[in-house]
Amino acid sequence: MNPNYIFAAAALAVFGALSSPQPASAVEGNAARGQRVFGACAACHSLEPNRNMTGPSLSGLWNRQAGHLASFKRYSPALKSSGIIWADNSLDAWLKEPQQFIPENQMTFAGIKDDQPRADLLAFLKDATQPGHAPSANVQQGDMMGMMGGGTSSLKKLEAAERVQAIRHCEDTYKVTTADGKTRDFWEQNLRFKTDSSDEGPVKGAPAILRAGMMGDRASVIFAAPDEFGKFISNGC
Ligand code: HEC
Repeated sequence: MNPNYIFAAAALAVFGALSSPQPASAVEGNAARGQRVFGACAACHSLEPNRNMTGPSLSGLWNRQAGHLASFKRYSPALKSSGIIWADNSLDAWLKEPQQFIPENQMTFAGIKDDQPRADLLAFLKDATQPGHAPSANVQQGDMMGMMGGGTSSLKKLEAAERVQAIRHCEDTYKVTTADGKTRDFWEQNLRFKTDSSDEGPVKGAPAILRAGMMGDRASVIFAAPDEFGKFISNGC
């Protein structure tokens, strides 16, 4: 072949690549790298069916209508009525700039502007959102949950030291008595009260206390239902 011709063709290819920006979908995604990008999502989204967190489970995402996972109760009207069907192109546009793609949605995430990490993430999600293909929960959530002593383990089986029997509010302090007979003091702003009504949540009448954060000075008390707040928390020193 004529070497001049080859040079001309190569030059044309380079020129073509520079002058006409490729659509994002033309960037080749790498699922292994994409799994690391998913770390930006994992605090809010699980890949297990119907395990909803701040955001809906992403299991079974492809071909699902936006805002229509029945078990997720916190969709914004904007997402629910968008009429979008999740597919390669719509997910690419959503993850690039969520607020532009569906204005007024309530996902507090700025988007991934670079094409390559977005393509990597989509390559990972396309497989991992299929039934039975999700990597284990530990991989999904990194080491954060382990560090916080929480995680996905059931609150139905608690050590005595984790089972709350009474809480007294005294000046700026909560005094938490657990089933091992010990009472620990927490500054009132370091104790959080939560409920977990899921299958993993505590048994009625047996709220759990879990250490949170890395300093050991914070904790969460998790009740089966909000009507237990009043039963367990009293005033007095
Ligand atoms: C701070 C929490 C948070 C982060 C981080 C986050 N999301 Fe979301 N996501 C949400 C919430 C909340 C919604 C529901 C928004 C609404 O209803 O407007 C949502 C909705 C979605 C939806 C639509 C699902 C459906 O059922 O229609 C997809 C897809 C999605 N997120 C993917 C991602 C991906 C991928 C990432 C990481 C790049 C990510 N999100 C990061 C909270 C988050």
